[in-house]
Amino acid sequence: MRTIELKGEKVIMIDQTLLPREVRLIECHDTECIAEAIENLRIRGAPALGVAAAFSLAQTALKHANSPRNEVLAALEKTYRRIKATRPTAVNLHLALERVMSRARESENPAEAAYKEALRIYEEDFEANRKLGEYGAELFEDGDVVLTHCNTGALATASYGTALGVIITAWRQGKKLRVFADETRPLLQGARLTAWELVQEGIPVTVITDSSAAYVMRTQGVSKVIVGADRIAANGDTANKIGTYSLAILAKEHGIPFYVAAPLSTIDPATPSGEHIPVEYRRREEIEFFNSQRIVPPEAEILNPAFDVTPAEYISGIITEAGVLTPPYEESIARALKKR
Ligand code: MRU
Repeated sequence: MRTIELKGEKVIMIDQTLLPREVRLIECHDTECIAEAIENLRIRGAPALGVAAAFSLAQTALKHANSPRNEVLAALEKTYRRIKATRPTAVNLHLALERVMSRARESENPAEAAYKEALRIYEEDFEANRKLGEYGAELFEDGDVVLTHCNTGALATASYGTALGVIITAWRQGKKLRVFADETRPLLQGARLTAWELVQEGIPVTVITDSSAAYVMRTQGVSKVIVGADRIAANGDTANKIGTYSLAILAKEHGIPFYVAAPLSTIDPATPSGEHIPVEYRRREEIEFFNSQRIVPPEAEILNPAFDVTPAEYISGIITEAGVLTPPYEESIARALKKR
């Protein structure tokens, strides 16, 4: 089963909030169902969000395939606005919406144009991840001890994964790796999803609390850190799951290379630097309760940023389908985007 699929007018996805206890599919018949799935992280991970956004427009297009052009466009605009309001940081979601809408707006047959463009986004994601997996795997050696954060596997993409795709590619090449996965508070994408994917692949994985990272780097011979990205600014500053920035600083302090793996669709040339990246703040309940038990006094304030921004100077390389980009990132990113 793929993370997300478009079957007829149905968008089908794995409900990631239930993993690893249960693999259950959700069938979405309308935009509201997809928007709810995105907001509640039933589907998550920047590239998968791009595909979900594209498929929501494709679904609307299919439903209105026989309507007059202006009605198709009006329906698409409505879906576009609803999905755009779901999550702000992962740029794949926003760029996919823009891409599909601009095809639809310029076409005589907007329904067909939207549908085709959405499928293209899905196929491109798979191909980009496969390629970046190969480029990234070249950086890894037999015996490497790797630390990763959040979930960047097939579940976070159309298929294959980004940072986890690199680890899996290196493993399939016969490189014996040991992986430490940060549990990734508060929603535990590392413990629940990354560990699940690695176990399925037969790769040894050790889950640690996020706050163990420095100790583990110092005592367990961590030789590489690799993470994904939700939005990479034109200068290489990178938004990713909260906790990534601390890992980057720790990696530098311990002399460990820190890699970001992401398809070019996660780079936003319109965002000049990290301070312009919108960071999502989520509901206090995600921190206030654990296993439905209150763990914070109700009077206490809670700050729950879902992402942070790692300054480019901490990043040893950005692994993309166009190769491994290195500093100065303004130049290497601009070159890679131009060749696309
Ligand atoms: O809140 P999430 O689970 O959507 O956050 C996901 C991440 O931060 C991932 O690291 C990122 O999207 C890269 S996924 C290939």
